[in-house]
Amino acid sequence: MADAPVILSCVNLKGGVGKTTIAVNFAAYCGLQGLKTLLIDLDPQTNATFSCISVEDWQSHAAENGTVANLLGLRTHTSAEGKAKAPDDVIVEGVFKNVDLIPSHLDLFTIDLDLGGASARETLLRRALKDVLPKYDVVVCDCPPNLTIPTQNALAMSTHYVVPVSPDFLSSLGIGLLLSRVQKLTGDLEHKIENAGIVISRVGRRSYYREQTIQTLREQFGTVLNSSLNERSAVSEITEKHRPVFETADGKAISEFKALGAELMESLGLS
Ligand SMILES: Nc1ncnc2c1ncn2[C@@H]1O[C@H](COP(=O)(O)OP(=O)(O)O)[C@@H](O)[C@H]1O
Ligand SMILES: [Mg+2]
Repeated sequence: MADAPVILSCVNLKGGVGKTTIAVNFAAYCGLQGLKTLLIDLDPQTNATFSCISVEDWQSHAAENGTVANLLGLRTHTSAEGKAKAPDDVIVEGVFKNVDLIPSHLDLFTIDLDLGGASARETLLRRALKDVLPKYDVVVCDCPPNLTIPTQNALAMSTHYVVPVSPDFLSSLGIGLLLSRVQKLTGDLEHKIENAGIVISRVGRRSYYREQTIQTLREQFGTVLNSSLNERSAVSEITEKHRPVFETADGKAISEFKALGAELMESLGLS
């Protein structure tokens, strides 16, 4: 058991590029490798949450135990009943083998309005999880497609970040801006974070200019991982069943996610 886990944030300013799919399945991969893993859903759209548990299970857990919204100091939603929740309450244990989940909540949509004036608001999550983090080897944060308070909290506790990019022209446009804003934020917070690389994802989804885009990303940013993920129907189908790709019958999808998992683990110094 590590004292300080490796903490990876999955970020991009764009939606639909595979952030959640990569976060969920990398967490599942780490779990299968025997690493004690925590997946944190920081997106108000709660996609990572529903990739692991059913809507019914989320509803009862959110009502009784709370969600990441509680850890970020949002106690306005009805389920929270105005009471603080401990991280141990909020965690859903064993969603996959060796993987625990901190689910998200729609309340995060307005968090920038609710916490706009809160002091040290970028480090709320890091402080809330201080005592539980040493229980984990790896933490994976799935972020919303922006750099608002939830993403800032993820980055402020992360040792690394990874940027999924779909290889179409429009998806690659904001990468330079994203990388410079991550550097600015972590610099301001005096927090050290490493770029674990760009992951080319959802290859085959109407990818105009695919080769040029990948080439440009390599030239401009260097750190493009060798493993890429193709668009495969088995991936979205298994997600709807709240299970990881490793439980599909699609051997090619499994191999791709395994190769990415192994490469990312190496990039994070976990293997
Ligand atoms: N490799 C893939 N093959 C098929 N569908 C995928 C793949 N990656 C993601 N998807 C699907 O595409 C949609 C967007 O992916 P998602 O991971 O949620 O992106 P983001 O988190 O960046 O918005 C989801 O419906 C997801 O199931
Ligand atoms: Mg997502």
